[in-house]
Amino acid sequence: MKKIIFILSISLIVLLIVWLVMRLNNPDSVVKSGYQASTRNTKIIVYDVEGLERQAKQIIPSGGFDYIAGGAETEKTMRRNISAFDNVDIYPRVLTGVDNPDTSTSILGIDISLPVIAAPAAAHGLAHVSAEAGSARGVAQAGTIMSVSTYASSTLKEIANAGGGAPQWFQLYLSKDADFNRAIVDQAERLGYRAIILTVDAPIGGNRWRDVRNDFKFPLELPNVAKKSIKTKGQGIGAVFAAAQNKITPYDIMRVKGMTKLPVIVKGIQHPYDAEVAIRAGADAIWVSNHGGRQLDGAPAAFEVLPDIARQVNKRVPIIFDSGIRRGQHVFKAIASGADVVAIGRPVIYGLALGGWRGVVSVFDYIKSDLKRVMTLAGTQTIEDIKKTQLRPRCVTVRCGNI
Ligand code: FNR
Ligand code: LAC
Repeated sequence: MKKIIFILSISLIVLLIVWLVMRLNNPDSVVKSGYQASTRNTKIIVYDVEGLERQAKQIIPSGGFDYIAGGAETEKTMRRNISAFDNVDIYPRVLTGVDNPDTSTSILGIDISLPVIAAPAAAHGLAHVSAEAGSARGVAQAGTIMSVSTYASSTLKEIANAGGGAPQWFQLYLSKDADFNRAIVDQAERLGYRAIILTVDAPIGGNRWRDVRNDFKFPLELPNVAKKSIKTKGQGIGAVFAAAQNKITPYDIMRVKGMTKLPVIVKGIQHPYDAEVAIRAGADAIWVSNHGGRQLDGAPAAFEVLPDIARQVNKRVPIIFDSGIRRGQHVFKAIASGADVVAIGRPVIYGLALGGWRGVVSVFDYIKSDLKRVMTLAGTQTIEDIKKTQLRPRCVTVRCGNI
């Protein structure tokens, strides 16, 4: 009898240990189950991106929506990214004979149908079951560039396939593991991605109060890093960032340049000195961005720092700009302030949630037709004409600083 009790107790302890190990290794058990992303597949009508955000809120599960829509702390910088465009006016010309303006342009040797590309954003799977593969299909259809985050919910291969040869850039978050960095850059290059975007503004994650309140954890895998580099499913974004390389210096730009033949774009620049340092370290393009207000609340709007950075860069390399672009006049103002192209982050994800790849096409169609209208009413026939346009500071009539 004693023997049986002993064997039973040992078996029970072994079972308990096995269960504990499985539970720790299987993040399924620690995430809220039943995350249901949208499965829609339809064109959408876009009046404005603010309306899209309201609609997207209805269909993206609330933790996922807050992660996407939210910013750092009070979100003042995030809001100012949009309102800062009101600090300058477009000075319209009406006798230039504009007729059906041409929105096409090119960047780093790639022709695109409008000067607006998709910004890299993590976890499109929170918004739609097709994830980045869906976005890539929509972006390809729109005739522009898809940027793909290291923390995408689709694999780099699935996204490349969905793009069908359309231009794509791979955004790298450096891992602490040098072999992983080399392997993922090699993989992107082999799959036909045409540039590496090195994001340098996220040594840690911003303090995103909405995520803290929701105790938000990724309910889905981030397959390009999972297992190979860091644990993702069931982790919060803070933990994902903490597991990546935290200290970033100009040496890292040189290191990534040494890993690839592709152009290296340095993303997250907010200060003219950093633009200079990045160019000296070999950056092939500068991406001005404050990460959509998701990192440092209390930083200026990205649009406010763009002119100084453009002056410093002085056309040595192209400038990509993002954070707050919501309509045609924003695109116009950013290009008139020194950007060569702009990128949109959240609007793409909302389009994806509301209509799958077709919804993404609708978002780009909206921005393109809105930009065309602005170009027509402002008297500019081409994107090069916008670059020559001078904006009119509102502080001519309104006291500067009272933004
Ligand atoms: C981002 N962004 C981002 N940037 C990056 O370099 N790598 C990433 O993985 C992510 N992930 C990410 C997720 C989500 C949900 C958002 C909204 C944004 C920042 C992104 O590239 C871009 O800088 C901002 O989204 C631009 O601001 P708007 O257009 O969203 O206002
Ligand atoms: C974010 C990332 C992953 O902003 O860059 O959430």
